[in-house]
Amino acid sequence: MRALPIAFLGLTLAACDTTPGETDRAFQASGEIIAMSGGAGGAGNACFTCHGLKGEGDGVSSPRLAGLDQGYLQKQMEDYASGLRPDDVMTRVARGLDPEARRIVAAWYAGLHAPPAGASAAPRPSIWLTGDTARGITACAACHGTEGQGAGAGQPIVARQPAAYTLEQIDRWKSGRRRNDPRSVMAAAVQHLTEEEAQAIAHWLSTQSPSSARAEASLARAASVAAAARPAASRETRRPARSDGG
Ligand code: HEC
Ligand code: HEC
Repeated sequence: MRALPIAFLGLTLAACDTTPGETDRAFQASGEIIAMSGGAGGAGNACFTCHGLKGEGDGVSSPRLAGLDQGYLQKQMEDYASGLRPDDVMTRVARGLDPEARRIVAAWYAGLHAPPAGASAAPRPSIWLTGDTARGITACAACHGTEGQGAGAGQPIVARQPAAYTLEQIDRWKSGRRRNDPRSVMAAAVQHLTEEEAQAIAHWLSTQSPSSARAEASLARAASVAAAARPAASRETRRPARSDGG
């Protein structure tokens, strides 16, 4: 009978000794559970009810989450929770989860496939690529890529988001309600954008595919546009601080 506890101990140790692959799977499963149940926040906060079963979004006000950058998603959850990005719905949802739960649900959505592109593709507004120096508008492509595919390091994918959602974000930056952009880059970028330009951009972005081969091919081009535009962008955002001091 003495051998029994030792055998048990062996089993327990074997169960704890999970490979990295198994840990990843357990991790993703709990992210999925939060997405489907709302986690500690309860069923009223279940992400899928607004963001879709596959994180594809509702096509109107709830953005797609599938395939967005994990770091970006996690930052948004923290910003909703802290009030830096206040929102009637999402601030409550984010505060219903602890930081660890916010991290794993972000990781789960980042791992899902982006929804495929629709059949129609709108023409790309020229201001997206060129900006307008006369009005102090930096080219959106410098930070979001030529096709809206994002440029890594916190410069998010904006392709294939609902037009109404994109317009709402532009409005919130203009009015200062959303102010979680590092160095106010977004507030500066959209300040002088006209309503027509904002609508053309939002409509075009909603028809873009972030995962298309075309987007992949344009990554290199986007990087060079970004390199060219970066000094101008930092000058633009530093200006208000300097003029304060006279
Ligand atoms: C009742 C509807 C609803 C529920 C439930 C909900 N969301 Fe949202 N979510 C929204 C809306 C609406 C927005 C856009 C808010 C805004 O304009 O900032 C949003 C925005 C987001 C964003 C920002 C995405 C981006 O591209 O910036 C993230 C991340 C997010 N939600 C994650 C979640 C997660 C994770 C859950 C579940 C724990 C969840 N949401 C539950 C409606 C919802
Ligand atoms: C200098 C870099 C830079 C430029 C130029 C720029 N953006 Fe952004 N943009 C950002 C960053 C960084 C964020 C994410 C901020 C955050 O952490 O929430 C962002 C976020 C966004 C979002 C919100 C994405 C989401 O999922 O909620 C939209 C929409 C957007 N930008 C549109 C534009 C448009 C349109 C232009 C051109 C008029 C533009 N951006 C120019 C850096 C830039």
